[in-house]
Amino acid sequence: MSGDYETLAKNQPDIYYTKSSSNMKQIFSNQFYYQFKMPDFDILKERLETIEKFDDGDFTWGELCKIERDSYNVNDFFDILVKPVGMLSGQLGVKFNAKISHPWLNRYDRGGFQEIHYHDDCDIAAVVFLNDGEDFSKFYFWDSNHTAFTKPWIKILTQMKLSNIYYPEVKAGDVLLFPSHMLHGVSPHNSDIIRKTFSFNVIVTNVE
Ligand SMILES: [Fe+2]
Repeated sequence: MSGDYETLAKNQPDIYYTKSSSNMKQIFSNQFYYQFKMPDFDILKERLETIEKFDDGDFTWGELCKIERDSYNVNDFFDILVKPVGMLSGQLGVKFNAKISHPWLNRYDRGGFQEIHYHDDCDIAAVVFLNDGEDFSKFYFWDSNHTAFTKPWIKILTQMKLSNIYYPEVKAGDVLLFPSHMLHGVSPHNSDIIRKTFSFNVIVTNVE
């Protein structure tokens, strides 16, 4: 429905700004993430140095980003990676069965980045931050609903700090887990120290 904006503006007074406590009821909150300290982080890092890795020939993605990847056998890491998945299940308050698909290491040289994407071959995506530093790439979430916002709503949501991009505050040793439908990306890397993250996907096979 589109009114005659000029006529409306002439005949109506301005809206008063009245500050009060929040009456907002937020609904359809299906975009969220969990952040934990990665269990066995030192063992994980040590294992990444010693366990056999594979080239990244099996990946079906990679043309739109600029990163180097190493692929690993899930059996070499299952005992560690299953722990944050269990923590997630506990926090969600939902018991589920799941398989962890092959994990991989991402290496970002200067200028490296990852385009906005989601994972269509799993249900939960996870990323472990192996190092951090000045001018490092930043992991971010991107609100897929953003494309439907009107211009005033973009301004309003930005002032409410609910804009379309969200950078979780992460440090080396943190792990993020999130629904695989959530759009996410990694900003360009501006350091000469190689940024490393370890990613794995979780396929939910049964929800109790
Ligand atoms: Fe991803």
